[in-house]
Amino acid sequence: MTVRKLFLLPGDGIGPEAMNEVRKIISYMNAELGGTYETDEGLVGGSAYDAHGVAISEEDMAKAMAADAVLFGAVGGPQWDAVPYDVRPEAGLLRLRKDLELFANLRPAICYPALASASSLKPELVEGLDILIVRELTGGVYFGEPKTITDLGNGQKRAIDTQVYDTYEIERISAVAFELARTRKNAVCSMEKRNVMKSGVLWNQVLTELHKAKFADVKLDHMLADAGGMQLVRAPKQFDVIVTDNLFGDMLSDVASMLTGSLGMLPSASLGAPDGKTGQRKAMYEPVHGSAPDIAGKGIANPIAMIASFAMCLRYSFGEVAQADALEKAIANVLDRGIRTGDIMAEGCKQVGTVEMGDAILAEFKSLM
Ligand code: NAI
Ligand code: MG
Repeated sequence: MTVRKLFLLPGDGIGPEAMNEVRKIISYMNAELGGTYETDEGLVGGSAYDAHGVAISEEDMAKAMAADAVLFGAVGGPQWDAVPYDVRPEAGLLRLRKDLELFANLRPAICYPALASASSLKPELVEGLDILIVRELTGGVYFGEPKTITDLGNGQKRAIDTQVYDTYEIERISAVAFELARTRKNAVCSMEKRNVMKSGVLWNQVLTELHKAKFADVKLDHMLADAGGMQLVRAPKQFDVIVTDNLFGDMLSDVASMLTGSLGMLPSASLGAPDGKTGQRKAMYEPVHGSAPDIAGKGIANPIAMIASFAMCLRYSFGEVAQADALEKAIANVLDRGIRTGDIMAEGCKQVGTVEMGDAILAEFKSLM
């Protein structure tokens, strides 16, 4: 019996409230479904700063490194706005991403039928939408050197950011996209700007060669990233997996996510390289939303983004596809029945709090298993 080590970092604000609802699901899986999940828990963000004076302690970092998967809530809040830059809450998140080498950020945009009318697009454009944006997370213009602001001495300053991509970085993110596509509708659309950027030229070339060599069975399209943005809001259902760089991915994933309704619904995963021996990837799963200080402690946060992040964990870290499908179906069924937290409340629906929403999803999950 292999123990599956989960390291929980609930963080600040609504992070712990949302994480509690995942904990209930894990307990059920261990008790009733033969799950072998072993959970440990640490502090990150403002709560770690209050306890240790850092955004994450070395001890907790070591536990995150040793875990099969990390579940992360959210960090930050106004009470930590004035703490030194190096230990600000976000530093904990950045440290985790860097040390775990989480270079692939997966952002699904799924439109639950019950919420199609809440989208900013016409319901028929988004109903049944299920796309996955794979964003390169550790390279590109956010990290490239030089990165400077220089005084030119004539009343002018010059700011420089540098977009850098090496072959191996493009290869590994492309491989993730192709592999994921094979478990979905088997189609990848790569987005870059090879018309004006050298990094786009290389991106296109490396990805195309990898496709030919190892993933020729996957349908591959290329789009210029600006045109891709247009297509995302014109006809989003044409896409299955979109793979793109750090900067374009930041914007395109935010655009795509809003096609589907509330921030409280959106999960994400960040994956690292496969371990040489086990093939297991380091991974962290987290909701897209932040710590929501305006509603923290009130018991009204929507736990769905956190629960859906755990579903991604089951799918991508543990290959529990049937369980992941069932958990996502449980979310959809509960929404179909009109059970809603405040952020997704609609006429004729029943408004519930965080715990009731978690209980409803767990009950539905049980009935599906
Ligand atoms: P936010 O995502 O925390 O909240 C934005 C709005 O959406 C708020 O009105 C909030 O109440 C609502 N909201 C978010 N999640 C919700 C949920 N699950 N259920 C119901 N309503 C929800 O973003 P904001 O306000 O810009 O940032 C608040 C704090 O969170 C800041 O300190 C920020 O730095 C931090 N943050 C942390 C992130 C992370 O840990 N990954 C990501 C984004 C922000
Ligand atoms: Mg963003």
